[in-house]
Amino acid sequence: MDRIKIRHRPGHTTGTAHFSNSSLDDTAIWFQGNPGFQKVVVIRLEHTVTIDLKQHLSTRAARIEAVLTSLLDGAALPGETARPPRLVAAMRHGALNGGKRLRPVLMIETAAMFGRSDDGVVQAACALELVHCYSLVHDDLPAMDDDDLRRGLPTVHKAYDEASAILAGDSLLTLAFDVVAEETVHEDAGVRLRLSRDLARASGLGGMAGGQMLDLESEHRARSEDEIRLLQSMKTGALLRYACRAGAVLADAAEDDIDRLTRFGEVIGLAFQLADDLLDVEASPETMGKATGKDAEAGKATLVGLWGIEKTRAELNRLVKEAAELLKPFDERAEVLAALASYIVSRTN
Ligand code: IPE
Ligand code: IPE
Ligand code: MG
Ligand code: MG
Ligand code: MG
Repeated sequence: MDRIKIRHRPGHTTGTAHFSNSSLDDTAIWFQGNPGFQKVVVIRLEHTVTIDLKQHLSTRAARIEAVLTSLLDGAALPGETARPPRLVAAMRHGALNGGKRLRPVLMIETAAMFGRSDDGVVQAACALELVHCYSLVHDDLPAMDDDDLRRGLPTVHKAYDEASAILAGDSLLTLAFDVVAEETVHEDAGVRLRLSRDLARASGLGGMAGGQMLDLESEHRARSEDEIRLLQSMKTGALLRYACRAGAVLADAAEDDIDRLTRFGEVIGLAFQLADDLLDVEASPETMGKATGKDAEAGKATLVGLWGIEKTRAELNRLVKEAAELLKPFDERAEVLAALASYIVSRTN
C-alpha cells in the first residue's frame, strides 16, 4: 500500500463516513464522523502516478454519456404528459454528439478532490452539460452565430429545423433544473437548492445568456479589453465557474474552499474562451468539428482581435499559472484539476 500522510482539518465534525475507492479517487479518503471526530484527509505521500489525462477524460466522459443518454429517453417521466419523438431526437442530436464534456468533468474532479464521488455528483454534472448543450444549440442558430457544423455534425437547426432547435434548447435547459433538483443529487435539500440557484445565475440574464447578448451587441463594434473580458466571463466563464463551484458545494467543502474553487473556475473560464478564440484563427474545421475563421468575419469582439495572437497566448499562459497558484493549497490532491487547466491551454480542439 502507498505510504500516506494524514492532515487534520478542523471544523468538519458532522456527516457520514465517505470512502472513494475508484482508481484516481483513492487519493482522498474522508472521515466525517460523529461530533468529536475531525475530517481527515488521507493522501498519497509519494505521488508518482502520472495521469493519463486523455484516458481519464474519456473514462469520465463515458459515464457522463451514459447518464445523458438515459435522461434523454423517449419515455415520459411522472408529471410529464408525453415526449414528442421529434423533440427528443433533436435534443439527443444536440446533447449526445461527442462533446468534450469538460464542464461536467471539472465538476466531478472538483468534488472528488474534496472527497465526494458518487452518482449524485455525476447527475449534477450532467445537469450542467445539458445547459451547455442548450447554449450551443441556440448559439448556432441563424439569428445568433449562424453555424452549420457542430461537433463534426450538422447543427440541430440544419439536421431538423429552426423551431425544433429552439424548442430543443428550451427543453435541454428546463431538463437541467429537473435533474439538479432530484433527491439523488445530494441528501441535503439545502445543497440542491443552492446548486439550482447558482445554476440559474450562471446560465441566465447575469451569466451565459447575458454574455451572449453582449457578444452579439458587440459585433462590428469597438470594444475595450475590459468590455471583452466582461462578455467572455459571462458567455463562457459563468458555466465553467459554476462547474468548479458546484463540485465544491456538492462535497460540502468549507466556504473558503468554495470561494477558491469559484475563482479557479473564473480563471480557467477566461482561459477557455481565449483558447477557443485562438483556435478559431489557427485551427481547421476538421479538427474543431465546427467552422473556424468566423470570428473576424462576424466582427466578434475578442482579445485575439484586439491584441493579436502573441499577446493573447501570453495572457492565456498567465491565466493558467494563476489557476495553478489557486490550487496550491490542495497540492497533490489537485493533480487532475491542474492537468485539466493545462489541457485548456494546449488543447487542439
Ligand atoms: C464550445 O465549448 C463553446 C465555448 C464556450 C467556446 P466546448 O469547446 O466545450 O464544446 P464541446 O462541448 O466540447 O463541443
Ligand atoms: C460560445 O462562444 C459561447 C456559448 C455560450 C455557447 P462561441 O460562439 O465562440 O462558441 P463556438 O465557437 O460557436 O463554439
Ligand atoms: Mg457565439
Ligand atoms: Mg458560436
Ligand atoms: Mg468560438
